[in-house]
Amino acid sequence: MPERKSPKRDLVIVLDFGAQYNQLIARRVRECRVYCEIHPSGTPVADVLKLNPKGIILSGGPSSVYSPGSPSVPMRLFNLGIPILGICYGMQLMGRLLGGEVIAAATREYGKTELHVREPGMLFKGLNPQLICWMSHGDVVKSPPPGFTVLAQTRSTPVAAMSHDRRKLHAVQFHPEVVHTPWGIEVIRNFLYGVCGCEPSWDMGNYIDFMVKDIRRTVKEGRVLCALSGGVDSAATAALVHRAVPDRLTCLFVDHGLLRDGEPEQVVRTFRHNFKTRLVHVRAKERFLGKLRGVTDPEKKRLIIGNEFIRVFEEYASRFGRMDFLAQGTLYPDVIESAAAGAGGAATIKTHHNVGGLPAGMKLKLLEPLRPLFKDEVRTLCEQLGIPPEITWRQPFPGPGLAIRIIGEVTEERLRILKHADGIILEELRNANLMRDVWQAFAVLPAVRTVGVMGDQRSYEYPIALRVVTSQDGMTADWARLPWELLERISSRVANEVKGVNRLVYDISSKPPSTIEWE
Ligand code: XMP
Repeated sequence: MPERKSPKRDLVIVLDFGAQYNQLIARRVRECRVYCEIHPSGTPVADVLKLNPKGIILSGGPSSVYSPGSPSVPMRLFNLGIPILGICYGMQLMGRLLGGEVIAAATREYGKTELHVREPGMLFKGLNPQLICWMSHGDVVKSPPPGFTVLAQTRSTPVAAMSHDRRKLHAVQFHPEVVHTPWGIEVIRNFLYGVCGCEPSWDMGNYIDFMVKDIRRTVKEGRVLCALSGGVDSAATAALVHRAVPDRLTCLFVDHGLLRDGEPEQVVRTFRHNFKTRLVHVRAKERFLGKLRGVTDPEKKRLIIGNEFIRVFEEYASRFGRMDFLAQGTLYPDVIESAAAGAGGAATIKTHHNVGGLPAGMKLKLLEPLRPLFKDEVRTLCEQLGIPPEITWRQPFPGPGLAIRIIGEVTEERLRILKHADGIILEELRNANLMRDVWQAFAVLPAVRTVGVMGDQRSYEYPIALRVVTSQDGMTADWARLPWELLERISSRVANEVKGVNRLVYDISSKPPSTIEWE
């Protein structure tokens, strides 16, 4: 089949100086419908030229321009005639290299700060002269390099934005990419359209074309194994790889029996029947429940499920003959989280095994086509790949599945109770059209029984806890203020329809101090 020609598109690159949220810059640029990639700050100028970018963004970073060995760029970069936007460290670097004065600030400026625009130039065109921006820096540009105009200042930063229009060099001390700079995207848009002359032409369709080509180029004649978990990310990965190399993809779906009601069938229907993917569905519920027998400690459950998953995965994968690549649905926030977990020595609150994770012993090269994307971008991708909405809009779901929502021992009977109650909750939220408004909604089965009365009979049965939270990213969360009538209906249906349950309680804890899951 002839390769489809790559759609013509403008590219802007971010040179990465190591700030934790640099991908946000790329994401904002893509939101402005301009394709954006991140490259290391040390990328040689010749390689930058080969990419033919319409603009370059120098990102923020943790270093001080005065620290020995701090990352830099060759002076030549500023003379290429390609528009450049420096952000935070990127601005200080530009200031220092081009002959301005950069000093350590008397006080670190951190958080929301009022910005006064003195001269709008191209960057602040159409914006208010008084704006709120997000600052996080130690060094400041005290006086700009020759030929630069000061565009804005704050109380403690005399040069909070500057530009040299003829050389198309611009810089801001604040972070336009974060949500705490509410109009920051306008500054980015002004840079992209006004300074770089980009066209707003990029969309997820282009990403698909681009990735399909990239996967074909990488995989060549090799064979790809993809672990399907039932979630959005692995589904998008499989569908994307399938579009690129349909004959060379095998999907392995290890069904540990701890998914929500109806979800395994949906995965099989979508991939085996709709996409005609080669899909091996391993029904391993008994195996997992056997391993979990008598186990009540949450971390032990996680460990057992994670290890067993890898064992089953390896066992089946070895039957497929030689495989060269493992396709994984790693997203950008996963990359940040693992980096943070690896570097910070932060306390482990819960170990988050991602089922579908890489068996360490397998000699496979990784294929991670979603790596630069955020969850909502993946959902757009799913829609364009023809994945059904039930999967595309699926809420985050923990790898160890319902095992960590059954407090205490996981048994067939307790799994039945939880799945049934959970199914009712989801059905009611769907009917109320609230599924997309909440981050997660689910049932928890505590390990206690409570007294109730049914007819004239005393009952002594389980309560179900209803957990519905709103959140941006799962790191913090609040309980959802559901309408009373909806709570009433869920409570009455769960207590009446689920055998073994006589009570429903609503969890009104926020995270912190609680967590989203109970275990
Ligand atoms: P917590 O309970 O820590 O959850 O507030 C934050 C988010 O992570 C999910 N979660 C997990 N995901 N394996 C996973 O893959 C796990 O062991 C795990 N524990 C929690 C949780 O559902 C929420 O979205």
